[in-house]
Order: sequence, then C-alpha cells, then structure tokens
Amino acid sequence: MDALRVEDVSLSIRESGILDGVSFSLEKGSFSAMCGHNGAGKSQLLRIIKGLARPSSGRILLDGRECSAKERMRRVGLVFQDAQMQMVAQSVEKDIAFGPENLGLDRDEVSRRVGMALALMGLEAHAKRRPQTLSGGELRKTAIAGVLAMEPDVILMDEPFANLDYPSTLTVIRSLLELHEKGFTILVVSHEAEKFLSHTDRLIVMSHGRVVVDGRACDEYHRLVENDIYIPPAASFEDLTWLA
Ligand SMILES: Nc1ncnc2c1ncn2[C@@H]1O[C@H](COP(=O)(O)OP(=O)(O)OP(=O)(O)O)[C@@H](O)[C@H]1O
Ligand SMILES: [Mg+2]
Repeated sequence: MDALRVEDVSLSIRESGILDGVSFSLEKGSFSAMCGHNGAGKSQLLRIIKGLARPSSGRILLDGRECSAKERMRRVGLVFQDAQMQMVAQSVEKDIAFGPENLGLDRDEVSRRVGMALALMGLEAHAKRRPQTLSGGELRKTAIAGVLAMEPDVILMDEPFANLDYPSTLTVIRSLLELHEKGFTILVVSHEAEKFLSHTDRLIVMSHGRVVVDGRACDEYHRLVENDIYIPPAASFEDLTWLA
C-alpha cells in the first residue's frame, strides 16, 4: 500500500511553470531521498503535499484516498529547512507540545506525545532548554520532534543537514534511521544524498519541475553523478582544482 501518492501535480506561478506533471508514490514505511538542483521545485512540491500550497492541477492521495489540504495539514509532517523558523515557544518541550495542542488534544494526550517525541529524538535532557540556546543539531532534532508529536503518516524533511557539521549530521541520520525502523514513511529532500543514500529504499531526482529519476536507490545512485548532483571526493590534492 502506498502511504503517499502524488499524481500529475503541476504548479504555475504567474505564467511561469514551477512543477510539470510530477508523479511518484511512497510505499508505507519506506525511506526515500529526493535530490535536484536549486530551483528544481522540491520545496514547492513539499509545500503542496503538506497542504500549504495549492497545485494548479493534480492530486495528492494518502493511503490510496484523495485528501483535502486540511486533512494533509494534520497527517503530513514537514520539517522546514530553517529549523529556527519552526520554533514557536520558550522551551523545547513547549515547542513540541504546540502542534498537538493546536490539534485540540487533551492535556494527557499532549503530554504523552511530547514524552514520546523527546524520547525518540533523545532530547529528554534538553526539555526545559530555550530553543535559542540549542546547537544546530539539537535545534534540528527539536524541529523533527515537533513534527513527530503530530504523529504524522508521512514525514517530509527539507534539507535536514543544511548548516550542520559532521557530528550533527550523523546524529540526524541516526535519528532518521531509528524512525525508519519504527515504520515511519520518510522522504528527505537534500543536496547531500550521498550521506544517507545507502540507507534509503528510493531515489527521486527532480530537474526543472519534473521527476527525471525514480527508482531503487541501489540501482539509480550513479545518476547523481550523471546529473551533476554529486561530486565524487578528490583522489589527490591536485584534483581539488575542479574549477581549472
Ligand atoms: N512565490 C513565487 N513566485 C514565483 N516563483 C517562485 C515562487 N516561489 C518559488 N518560486 C520559484 O519556483 C522554483 C522552485 O522553487 P523551490 O523553492 O521549490 O526550489 P527547490 O528545488 O526547493 O530549490 P533549492 O534547492 O534551492 O531549495 C524556483 O525557480 C523559484 O524561484
Ligand atoms: Mg528548497
């Protein structure tokens, strides 16, 4: 069963085509990577799936059924590129509680979900901290926890490794793997797919508003180099002069 199906989605803004007939689906419990150059339309697509923007045409299905934007707002979790922007409260736990409270859940249920999200992201020790005092990796984990507390059917992440150093990137990848193990359906949009591609089931590449690669990550990974998305590491110092 597909947790998410995007069917022939197009988007034009003031006559200019942003997305052009995008179709793909994510199997329940799968972990997928989406890549593509700046401006390819990835973030706009995530906003449409989440229900934050309306496509010019096309449909979004969850569990095989077309869903309104309002329903998708509730059932699809989107972790934005800028985690700082996602912080709304004065402490980590209050920030994580914000989403479930907005769903109108009672206090016990909110507290159960906050506890679950803190534990899943290993943030218990930081529960009382102010988001402004967190490191980049901790902030990103808080943003992910906030989305988990909504208990979404599908988790979308827009550039979760942006501005993270190597240890923080590893921490976020480990958290993603744990979520994958727990059965969440995850789509990660990233310019750094080489960092986690070996753990994913699927690779989708977008170019100029279209899907140009969609297949098993193990079969399609070489297309990252072909599509100028991944630059293989230099064999020697001299090789670093790739502008020459
Ligand atoms: N409100 C808008 N009006 C006009 N064009 C827009 C608007 N929002 C986005 N675009 C354009 O849509 C295209 C796709 O943008 P999008 O943010 O989805 O790209 P992206 O693939 O996420 O790129 P990046 O890797 O840089 O994050 C870009 O060319 C962008 O300039
Ligand atoms: Mg983007």
